[in-house]
Amino acid sequence: MSITVAAGGSAAGFKSNVIIPGSANSGSSNYSHGLQYNEIYVGAIAQMACLRNGETPPDENRQRKLADELRAQVVEELIKRRKEVEWFIEEDFDAYIKRIKQPYKRNMEEEIKETEVSVPLLTPCKMGNFNLSHRIVLAPMTRTRSYNFIAQPHGILYYSQRTTKGGFLISEASGISETAQGVSNHSFQPNGDPPISCTDKAIQIEHNKAKFSPPRRLTVKEISQVVIDFRMAAKNAVEAGFDGVEIHGANGYLVDQFLKDQVNDRTDEYGGSIENRCRFPLEIVRAVSEEIGAHRVGIRLSPYANYNDSGDTNPDALGLHMAEALNKYSILYCHVIEPRMITIYDKQETKSSLLPMRKAFTGTFIVAGGYNRDDGNEVIGRSGADLVAFGRLFLANPDLPRRFELNSVLNKYDRSTFYTHDPVIGYTDYPFLEEKI
Ligand SMILES: Cc1cc2nc3c(=O)[nH]c(=O)nc-3n(C[C@H](O)[C@H](O)[C@H](O)COP(=O)(O)O)c2cc1C
Repeated sequence: MSITVAAGGSAAGFKSNVIIPGSANSGSSNYSHGLQYNEIYVGAIAQMACLRNGETPPDENRQRKLADELRAQVVEELIKRRKEVEWFIEEDFDAYIKRIKQPYKRNMEEEIKETEVSVPLLTPCKMGNFNLSHRIVLAPMTRTRSYNFIAQPHGILYYSQRTTKGGFLISEASGISETAQGVSNHSFQPNGDPPISCTDKAIQIEHNKAKFSPPRRLTVKEISQVVIDFRMAAKNAVEAGFDGVEIHGANGYLVDQFLKDQVNDRTDEYGGSIENRCRFPLEIVRAVSEEIGAHRVGIRLSPYANYNDSGDTNPDALGLHMAEALNKYSILYCHVIEPRMITIYDKQETKSSLLPMRKAFTGTFIVAGGYNRDDGNEVIGRSGADLVAFGRLFLANPDLPRRFELNSVLNKYDRSTFYTHDPVIGYTDYPFLEEKI
């Protein structure tokens, strides 16, 4: 199954996303996936569609054939568009094409088998109407591989590689409007305007100042417009074939900015008390749920993180308030980043816990942030979460569920290619298990 994320507007050096098949706003706004192009994920979501209808998932040989066809299409496309794409390939173009034409080894006949020893991550989970066959979720990740706002054939391959029977993929975010294109810099805004936010305070952190332009405070009327943008983006995503939408309320993007008292300095009904700061996010949840049905809606939150100055003085209270308030809308899931991820990639010791949120929220609870096989099994085993989203490990291991099943070695991720634009290197060329052993 796939869910996508859409971006909601950017500000004070923050961007926002909402999700639909996965949640990742493109890190660089020029390369956002546009929701209208989401049909490119058809390959990735076919399996969930089958599950949904109670049919048998496509057989492995068919999947292999599909993957090969997609890869051939990617290569063909690159050759056809040589002039346009050559700039991001750092080697001789012909040699590059020759290299990426080599078949990837992939043994798709071996599918995941019932394990004898129980691996909690590999147990089935009913998430609303969806019967997931395991609990390993692809976390939303900006990969900057869509060019000029248009999703590309290699995106199909990337997501297809990570599908499993009954698996759940959250795609990168899509910008929901012209003001919601990722990085909060005026160069990404219509007419070079300042990026939008709940505030007009400029971001303070030194090293990011250059990247982030001082924002413009949204008026109450404009806030309603952004809610409508989220609603329309969700509608488009579902029409394009996504199974649902994750609202990106995390990581310092627009929705998170409203939530956090270190950013939100408003004195109107959208600022001040926790209730007021949660108003905009909850209006989006309501609008999106009304539009596509709450059974297709998730939200991502990071109450404990303070990326890009977006911190809160009482994250326990904020997280709990949101978890309780979300129950009113009966949405499908709440996806929360662990308190230990105070900075974006590194784990830190903390006494805080997501348990109170987990206990308060009545839908499916997804955790993310620094998980590996052991602590993923641990959190599921003790019912600390229903599902675990894996970011970097899944990025580097397209067959992560299988590797977890076999408890096998993992490929190491290459941070230097996280946000580059190459359609193959660091994107679809991480090897499957059979190539390694
Ligand atoms: C390349 C990359 C891009 C990411 N992009 C996004 C994003 O656009 N939106 C988001 O909510 N999180 C994003 N994340 C964060 C991941 O979803 C995840 O929360 C984070 O990587 C921590 O999980 P991990 O330790 O399993 O990698 C990104 C992470 C990586 C590595």
